Formats: sequence, C-alpha cells, structure tokens
Amino acid sequence: MKVRNFESADESAVIELWRRTGLLQNPLNDPAKDIAFCLAGGHGEILILEDDGKVVATAMVGQDGHRGWIYYVAVDPARQGQHLGQRIVSAAEARLKTQGVPKAHLMIRGSNTQVVGFYQRQGYRVEPITTMSRRLDGNALPVGHQMDDDPVIVTYLEMTARPALPQVVPKARNHALMGAHDITVGFYRYLYDAVGRPWYWTDRKKLSDEELAAIIQDQAVEIYVLYVGGAPAGFYELDARDESTVELAYFGIMPNYIGMGLGPYLLVQAIEMMWQKEPERVIVNTCTLDHPKALPLYQRMGFHPYDRREVPAPWQDPDNILDFA
Ligand SMILES: CC(C)(COP(=O)(O)OP(=O)(O)OC[C@H]1O[C@@H](n2cnc3c(N)ncnc32)[C@H](O)[C@@H]1OP(=O)(O)O)[C@@H](O)C(=O)NCCC(=O)NCCS
Repeated sequence: MKVRNFESADESAVIELWRRTGLLQNPLNDPAKDIAFCLAGGHGEILILEDDGKVVATAMVGQDGHRGWIYYVAVDPARQGQHLGQRIVSAAEARLKTQGVPKAHLMIRGSNTQVVGFYQRQGYRVEPITTMSRRLDGNALPVGHQMDDDPVIVTYLEMTARPALPQVVPKARNHALMGAHDITVGFYRYLYDAVGRPWYWTDRKKLSDEELAAIIQDQAVEIYVLYVGGAPAGFYELDARDESTVELAYFGIMPNYIGMGLGPYLLVQAIEMMWQKEPERVIVNTCTLDHPKALPLYQRMGFHPYDRREVPAPWQDPDNILDFA
C-alpha cells in the first residue's frame, strides 16, 4: 500500500470513489473540473492511497497562502474502518507541514455530521466559525436542491429503572450547573440556537414567544444550564408534564466546548435528576443529524432503543425555518 500523487489515468476511479462515498451531492461541483483546477493552479495536489493497483482512498490538499485545506477525503466503502482514512489525512497533513503551513482546515457538509467523530479522532476540533460563500461563476442552485434527499432517522430510547451511573469528571475546571428557573424566552432562544444550530434543531424556532414561554415556564419543565468559566457551555431540559414519564427533551454542549468530557458529565447529572422525580420511565430521542456520539452515549448510560422512525430532513420541510442552509 502506498500514498502517491494523482495521475491522469486515475481520473475515472477517483470520480467513481467520490460518487460512491456521497461526496458529489452538489450538482454544481463537476469533479473532473475540480481535479483539473486543483492541479492546474499549482496550489494543491490530490493524494491517492493505492493498494494492489486500486485506488482505495483519496484526499485533495492545498494551501491558500494562509491556511491548509483538505477536501475530498474518501475511503472505498469496502475498506472503511481499516485506518485508511487516518492514513490519507495524515499524508495530507504531512504535505502541508513540509510547506510550513501552521494549521489545517476542512469543511463538512451540514448533513454529514457522522464524520465529525472521525475528524475529532484525528485531533480536529469543531471551530466556532460560520463559513460563508458566494458563487462567482453566475451559477445558482435551485432552492430545495441544496441538501441530501436522505430521510432522517429518529431513535426513541427509554429506561425503566434507575441505572448504575459512572463517576464522570469533566476536563474543564471552573464549571457550574445551575437551574434556570423562570427562564426568559430570549435566554432560552440563545441557548437553543447556540447548542442546536450545528445539529439542525429547528422545532422550537417555529414557536411564537408566547407558545415557547408556555412550555419552558411550565412548573413541570426544568432547564439546567452548564457554565464553564462563567459562560454558558450547554444545557438540558427535563419535561415531566406527563407524571409517569420524564423526558430529556433537549440536551447538548455548545460547539467550542465539545471534546472536554462535558457531555457524559452533563448526561449523568440529567439522568440522576430525572430519576429523583421517581417516574416509571425516562425517555429521550436522538436523530441521525445529531452528534454521532449521542446515540452510543445514551446507550452507554442505560437507555435502550424502543422505536425508530424516518422523518423528512429539515431542509425537505417547506414550512421549516432554515436560517443556515
Ligand atoms: C470519513 C472516512 C474518510 C473515514 O475513513 P475510515 O478509513 O473508515 O476511518 P479510519 O478507519 O481511518 O478511522 C480512524 C479512527 O476514527 C474512528 N472513526 C471513524 N469513523 C468515525 C465516525 N464516524 N465517528 C467516530 N469515530 C470514527 C475510527 O473508529 C478510528 O478510531 P481508532 O483510531 O480509535 O481505531 C470514511 O468513512 C469515508 O470515506 N466516508 C465517506 C466520505 C466522507 O464523508 N468524507 C468526509 C468528507 S468531509
């Protein structure tokens, strides 16, 4: 197995790999043009991981005079999970290092959240950055063709007995968890957007201030805010309006605090509080747009899946408020 530079004879195999790994979602991205432009510009190169004469992984890497950028990371689906992704990303980073580039960046399509964990494993962090773009070639995507057509899968989980919970000590010192009693709509909207924006949380954005206040200021609904160094870093919301069941209605950490062990810590606190209410069961749901570690984390803490449903993605819902498409 070896890493080498792209040669023109690789073109059809590379494009086929990108197609099979779902990287060609945007009809305005012509992969053959992308390859030619990358190689002609002199700023970038396309790395190929070859095994037994076959292209098994790719990465496009280059620098813009300030930062390094990595695109088109793909591993043959039949060979995923064998550390080939790790190998091609390391090779791309090595090329940037030899050019003295101090920092590598990459972009992940909003609907491809499951790869966030892969990059975190390679040492990448989710940046608190909003990426903006404007086409300079006069082309525009028709509205409604901007995202994948895959349905979103919601998994419903429950627990019917208090679990044995692990002791979790977060890496972040200086943290405090406080109940936000009689929370204002403005503060709630801030928390909901700051935590949920990367994961397409939109349900609560559709409610008027009055409708939202009626839920979050209900005595049976409790919101707890996690602070790190005095600033909000995450929150959870418990809904005990149905007396026999407590729902963990929302739970999350803000992007720049992910990776500090705060998620497992916060979840343990939430589960303990839910069981203090002595319900018959506690429930939560998570969907395929959520952080890829959410479902395994809920299961590790004692939740069991009891139902699974397909729902349209937020960008397929004509009534949705997508202010970040
Ligand atoms: C993302 C992708 C490149 C990963 O390649 P891979 O060869 O399957 O991943 P690796 O085997 O190198 O994984 C390296 C490590 O990351 C972990 N990992 C891989 N995918 C993960 C995921 N989705 N979530 C969390 N961790 C993940 C692996 O468990 C492994 O951990 P370890 O070092 O503890 O063993 C591959 O799945 C792919 O081609 N996906 C489709 C294309 C794509 O979405 N590309 C990214 C565009 S931004």
